[in-house]
Amino acid sequence: MRKILIAPSLLSADFMHLEREIQNIEAADADILHLDVMDGHFVPNLTFGMPIIRQIRALTKLPLDVHLMVQNPGDYYQPLAQCGVEYVSFHQEAVTHIHRHIYVLRDAGIQAGIALNPATPISTIQPVLPDLDFVLFMSVNPGFGGQKFLPLVYDKITQARLLTSNINPTLKIEIDGGVTDANAEALIDAGADMLVAGSHIFGNPDYTRAIASLRQ
Ligand code: DX5
Ligand code: ZN
Repeated sequence: MRKILIAPSLLSADFMHLEREIQNIEAADADILHLDVMDGHFVPNLTFGMPIIRQIRALTKLPLDVHLMVQNPGDYYQPLAQCGVEYVSFHQEAVTHIHRHIYVLRDAGIQAGIALNPATPISTIQPVLPDLDFVLFMSVNPGFGGQKFLPLVYDKITQARLLTSNINPTLKIEIDGGVTDANAEALIDAGADMLVAGSHIFGNPDYTRAIASLRQ
């Protein structure tokens, strides 16, 4: 059976106590830590950048998954590579020369992913599907935690699996936005490999239980 990776999104953590939050998430059996970088332009919200990511890197051995919701994601690749993050996704809607972005990331030893907003069809990235390590399908419009899940993402997962079963069978599918124990099983059944969850995990007093509820 394939391994399902649970990636808590730090966006919903208590930012006054980040060190403790990250240690608790690690102890609660998370697989990956999802870091939402927002620039106030690509999305109407602002979060954190390299100084915080460097400090997080020094603090945890969890693989880091950086989701770039920014207008110029290319500005981040070199610093992220030097910092030693494992996964980076940039938005299809933010870039013009998609191949260039994928190759810069892969050459730097980073797993490269493209994120798609809910209204962006998978056909917009079909030519690069063989070159990707993962795709990130947004199941809310990006910018904020705690939004309502959009079920249109199920079709995208099914389409992605059909399109890549021959050309890129190891492609990972990551789902981000409104993921809870009410939809996790259906997402996994549809073919998702990585589930991001912010409010479902950090809004629960028991992180171990919240993470376990997504795996089952
Ligand atoms: C939203 C971010 C998500 C967000 C998910 O733009 O990309 O990673 O933190 O939060 P929940 O799980 O609360 O929808
Ligand atoms: Zn995200």
